[in-house]
Amino acid sequence: MTGAITSRRVTWLTVALIACLLPLLVSDLVSGQASSRDQRRRTRFTPTTTQVDPEVSSSLAAAAAPAQAPAGFSNVTNGFDPQGPDFNTLNEDTAVALRSFNDNRFTFEETETVADGLGPTYNAQSCRECHQNIVTGGASQVTVLRAGHLTGGQFFESQGGSLIQSRATHPDASENLTAADNIRAFRISPNTLGDGFIEAISNTTLLNIRSAQPSTMRGVAVVVPVLEANGVGRIGRFGWKGQHASLESFAADAYLNEMGITSPLLPDENTANGRDVAPYDTTSDPEDDGDDIKAFANFMRATMVPPRGAITATVTSGEQVFARIGCATCHVGSITTAPANTSINGGTMVVPAALANKVIHPYSDFLLHDVGTGDGIPIQPTAEFANTANRMRTAPLWGLRTRNRMMHDGTALTPEDAILRHGGQASGVTTRYRALSATEKSQLVAFLNSL
Ligand code: HEC
Ligand code: HEC
Repeated sequence: MTGAITSRRVTWLTVALIACLLPLLVSDLVSGQASSRDQRRRTRFTPTTTQVDPEVSSSLAAAAAPAQAPAGFSNVTNGFDPQGPDFNTLNEDTAVALRSFNDNRFTFEETETVADGLGPTYNAQSCRECHQNIVTGGASQVTVLRAGHLTGGQFFESQGGSLIQSRATHPDASENLTAADNIRAFRISPNTLGDGFIEAISNTTLLNIRSAQPSTMRGVAVVVPVLEANGVGRIGRFGWKGQHASLESFAADAYLNEMGITSPLLPDENTANGRDVAPYDTTSDPEDDGDDIKAFANFMRATMVPPRGAITATVTSGEQVFARIGCATCHVGSITTAPANTSINGGTMVVPAALANKVIHPYSDFLLHDVGTGDGIPIQPTAEFANTANRMRTAPLWGLRTRNRMMHDGTALTPEDAILRHGGQASGVTTRYRALSATEKSQLVAFLNSL
């Protein structure tokens, strides 16, 4: 009898104990899952090599005189892929992934739904939503939110990663900022037109540009992993921090982080502020079998570079001022892409004829600089990327005349506003800008408005 009471009491006690501990166990389990996911992501975003391939071609193609890259706001192929069937005839049933420029443009413009794997946390439904001005692939006014905080001088990302998605497919998957995440930044959507030519610039070319810069203005060539090459390091060139070196890697990152769609390169869903979103996600991972991210990458690789506006005598004088006062030290006017057949992206791509040995005028060195505008958020919250927290990639100025919100946060509303925000490594140049005559200043602005 006594024994029975005791054992019943023990049973109740056990039940009560488990009831109390269960939420703790579950929350530990969930945060355990989240942190192993964070760990996987961190490993994925750490380059496996720190010495980069010089990407120098052994072929004689290098000897040929380089040609100008084709330019146009036209959604006409640069020759990387065939143009393909009339764009207006394509729909979900007729478009064929990777067949042509128009097919890939269709994928880039396609609106993704929950059935396709959209979300649970996301920012927009298609790449085109944020990359459209003047044509598909261009820039836009859409900004995204990033946040984190410092503890003991070390940067920690907000619990769901530094990108805070602003839309969700379920209210419980929404991401909200906490007061603790007091390092906050908006970043505006940049242009991707002509990016195939940027991808085709060899590591050596970027390092040579860097070596030619005076030490006080010298940029940082940041080594980032090429995801499709299992993390082989390459000099980053895409994004406000140069956080990617390959367009396929960027496409996988954007598909996951802007749209919530997983792919073989990044198969783990984002959390919502660290909470697992599995209850709101019915599509199994990877949601894209890899064709979509290749189609996005190939679409961008096949776009022409942004074309110049009218080049008047005032514009030409303005470009001379730009070079004379030192803007062109960072905003480099002419770069030649690698020769045909050069192996790039950790050996996963060879430069095709359409992108090879072309002169482009991006007005960037694709290096990171401290011009006093850094947003405090490093590429990854790890020691090797700590020096990226307060540095930004020199913004390419091609297509500038089509943008009315400038700098990474989009808060400079005129070229003059943008120039006057340059401090740090650009302070000497900004001082020279301030000392220009009114005529020289207006020539400089005329030049910027021709880009
Ligand atoms: C919600 C808006 C949004 C959507 C949707 C979006 N992007 Fe972006 N994109 C951005 C922003 C913002 C950046 C800059 C991010 C940064 O550097 O922090 C960017 C940068 C890029 C860049 C780097 C461009 C350069 O030359 O530096 C590429 C490439 C890119 N996006 C491709 C894509 C692709 C492909 C998709 C679709 C899978 C996509 N983006 C969807 C907003 C968006
Ligand atoms: C030390 C390198 C450096 C020098 C010198 C420099 N810039 Fe920049 N520039 C940058 C960086 C880095 C950014 C991006 C900053 C950001 O977004 O926070 C930038 C951004 C810009 C932008 C905004 C572009 C956009 O798409 O938002 C303009 C315009 C610009 N620079 C013009 C100039 C002009 C004109 C000069 C000369 C008076 C100049 N810069 C000198 C590095 C430099």
